[in-house]
Amino acid sequence: MNVLSRAQMLEFSQKGDDRGHLVIVEGMDDIPFDIKRIFYIFGSDQDVVRGQHANKNTEFVLINVAGTSKVRVKDGKGNEAVYSLNRPHTGIYLPKMIWKDMYDFSEDSVLLCLASTHYDPSEYIRDYDEFVKIVNGEKK
Ligand code: TYD
Repeated sequence: MNVLSRAQMLEFSQKGDDRGHLVIVEGMDDIPFDIKRIFYIFGSDQDVVRGQHANKNTEFVLINVAGTSKVRVKDGKGNEAVYSLNRPHTGIYLPKMIWKDMYDFSEDSVLLCLASTHYDPSEYIRDYDEFVKIVNGEKK
């Protein structure tokens, strides 16, 4: 299956009552991996583009728990898609080996990122041309 079609929006269960909302995200249940790492991004200006990499081994789920942002994903074969993250009970699942750019951050954006691995800089591909060569079998 094409890597782009594996990227998909997820909707999490919400428990709301007169005290407010509670959103549940359980590893291997609401998302398709065990959560090994979380990090979150805030204070990025609207014209900033983050990400700009692919990961050889890591799957992610990105959730704008406050504010909004967009994620552009590319397969390195000429196909791309854009997702809006604009509700705290939805997220985008990103498989391994997909190029991602996060951008258009609202001033109040807090982008929560759930990852399937501990941080390992060597599994990040930060050069788009290298990514294209790898996915098209021209490089390992
Ligand atoms: P970077 O990957 O550039 O962030 P983004 O993809 O959101 O634009 O990471 C910024 C810095 O933080 C970089 O020096 C690597 C470091 N970092 C860690 O040490 N651990 C982590 O889990 C992450 C995601 C980044």
